[in-house]
Amino acid sequence: MKYLIVAGARPNFMKIAPILRAFSSRRNGHPSTRVLLIHTGQHYSRNMSDDFFRDLGIPEPDINLEVGSGSHAEQTARIMMAFEPVCLEHRPDWVVVVGDVNSTVACALTAKKLGIRVAHVEAGLRSRDMSMPEEINRLCTDAISDVLFTTDTMADENLLSEGVASERIHFVGNTMIDSLQQQIGSARSLPLPDGLESGQYAVLTLHRPANVDSPDRLALILGAINSIAERIPVVFPVHPRTASRLDGIKLHPRIQVLGPMSYLPFLGLVARSQMVLTDSGGIQEETTVLGIPCLTMRPNTERPITCEIGTNVLVGTDPQRIVKEATSILDGHARAGTIPEKWDGRAAERIVGILLNQSGEASTLQRGCSSSSPSHCI
Ligand code: UD1
Repeated sequence: MKYLIVAGARPNFMKIAPILRAFSSRRNGHPSTRVLLIHTGQHYSRNMSDDFFRDLGIPEPDINLEVGSGSHAEQTARIMMAFEPVCLEHRPDWVVVVGDVNSTVACALTAKKLGIRVAHVEAGLRSRDMSMPEEINRLCTDAISDVLFTTDTMADENLLSEGVASERIHFVGNTMIDSLQQQIGSARSLPLPDGLESGQYAVLTLHRPANVDSPDRLALILGAINSIAERIPVVFPVHPRTASRLDGIKLHPRIQVLGPMSYLPFLGLVARSQMVLTDSGGIQEETTVLGIPCLTMRPNTERPITCEIGTNVLVGTDPQRIVKEATSILDGHARAGTIPEKWDGRAAERIVGILLNQSGEASTLQRGCSSSSPSHCI
């Protein structure tokens, strides 16, 4: 069997690393299995891509489609056009996609139309907010995937309610948390940025188009952060989308603005913080596992389990609410959370076990492995 594993953007890399490792560790029992890593190039800067490969021990991609940035239509179309010849040449049995970025939906759609089976890791998450590009990507990818791997049972319920057959859904846990557990020791041993002391600073991340593309919305949110900085230093690693929009906004001197951080230093930063303010998806999950209070500055979340049993509180973008909730945490009233079921560092093992056990029923394109292919024979 041949598997193409797709990654394209920063939040994909921590999800594929444990899957690649789990395939490698099953090498002995499955000598004819081949795995190829495809990087679409949706994220391409050193600090958005290469540094993550290094930190997570991911091998060089077998193929880089080098699509780069663009509008949603341009980027999605370029990924599809570049991925189709790869599928035709390598004739995989499975394409494995993760998360909800443009690379996820583009490669799922390309593969499915060629009759190749698609597995979606992190299926079934729903924000019910169709203004989020990721929600559209999630819905489309899940609708056409053959096997859907979920991180929690709420995601299973979402899929069942959309008519997905239960045999196609596998509740396996969270591969992003597999990476966290593998790397947390090294992450905690790294030095903190200058001037920060463990447990005595907040971390801020902001990159959702809904928050940063509107100058008014961004100024309101950062106004709230300026007030919070009166009480606690804030460290702000800035995403490239946001960096270009900060000009002219006055930030409190206790807000330390940094460039995008790679995986290990960022994980180490979050793990030793007093609280996190974010609009990210994955950070809601990481803070829940680390037991760090998280305020999510969005009106909704596709990860409600982190609010239901974790440390996450959805605060929206009203500055008064953001400051009120942050003050409550700083005054010692953070909510205690628990860790969701199966977020135990073994999700990738379960995924690979299920994929290797799938019936050998040939996909339309299957013709066996080509010995000249550059794939890793696991
Ligand atoms: C994408 C994902 C989002 C994810 C985020 C994490 C989609 C629809 N969105 O959003 O779900 O949370 O990645 O980062 O797929 N840029 C660089 N270097 C890079 C990549 C991008 O400088 O390596 C800049 C470019 O100016 C680009 C902008 O960042 O225009 C935004 O990048 P893009 O990939 O369009 O979307 P993200 O906002 O990063």
